[in-house]
Amino acid sequence: RSVTLIGVPVEEGSGRRGAAMGPAALRIAGVDQALIDLGHDVRDEGDIHVVPARDLPNHPKAHNLRLIGAYTRALEASTYDAAAAGRFPLILGGDHSLSMGSVSGMARYAAEKGRPLFVLWLDAHSDFNSPATSPSGNMHGMPVAFFSGQAEVAEILPKDRPLVDPRNVFQVGIRSVDPSERVEIQKHGVNVFDMRSIDEQGIAATMRHIVSTIERANGLLHVSLDVDFLDPDIAPGVGTTVPGGATFREAHLVMEMLSDSGLVSSLDLVELNPFLDDRGKSARVLVELTASLFGRRIFDRPTRAA
Ligand code: ARG
Ligand code: MN
Ligand code: MN
Ligand code: MN
Repeated sequence: RSVTLIGVPVEEGSGRRGAAMGPAALRIAGVDQALIDLGHDVRDEGDIHVVPARDLPNHPKAHNLRLIGAYTRALEASTYDAAAAGRFPLILGGDHSLSMGSVSGMARYAAEKGRPLFVLWLDAHSDFNSPATSPSGNMHGMPVAFFSGQAEVAEILPKDRPLVDPRNVFQVGIRSVDPSERVEIQKHGVNVFDMRSIDEQGIAATMRHIVSTIERANGLLHVSLDVDFLDPDIAPGVGTTVPGGATFREAHLVMEMLSDSGLVSSLDLVELNPFLDDRGKSARVLVELTASLFGRRIFDRPTRAA
């Protein structure tokens, strides 16, 4: 495949410093070379740099809205442009507010293709707050509500932009949800596979269900991987660790099954905070997982029976 790396050194959505170092750490961990070794054509566009958008308001319950809005606009355009050029946008974050831009860009691309966009949200959190409901005011807790049209505070993107149907969002690994988020995700039909459901059904059955749903709809799939999806033992480099996360083996199986499906059109790697990491451990795990998504295997397997 042809892959475009887009660095987004945003940390102002997260309420603490460090995630701006994420793109550098992922490059140092060798994300580009891992893909080149698998035979892909890789182009690194470098990092996006923006200044706060002057046409947006300051908002007491959406911290740094003018800056996050500017990142959203820039990344929406970069992601769309890469996809429209036939390339796979791989976003190196940066906190999770960047998915407002990457997912919106893919939504525009999918709408043009006449195909539905699905989103696989691998995260401890459902990130479905709006400025009205957020307990923290941090915009990294709002992207899913934003790209579903449920967190409109100001005109960050054009009013007629394509949205993602919340019923096309699959959330896996969820184990920290605010009370108002619980109400909102149920009301809007977000598909939530929380940790209890993964423990009961297993990750393989969960992924088979998700993949077959998207196949039947002829959808495109955007994957958004938050470091805190993973257990803090294997990935401590994130500001919002939650115990009981996905294991190394579960996370790899997710990526291998996604790779086999051939459905994935774009990927975010988000919330890596190298300042909190343990000797690059979390950055390395993200690169390993990315390699699995792009086809790295222990052995070749016979293709799945129809
Ligand atoms: N639910 C909390 C909030 O809205 C935490 C969100 C954490 N999000 C993240 N992308 N790490 O403030
Ligand atoms: Mn998140
Ligand atoms: Mn999270
Ligand atoms: Mn609502």
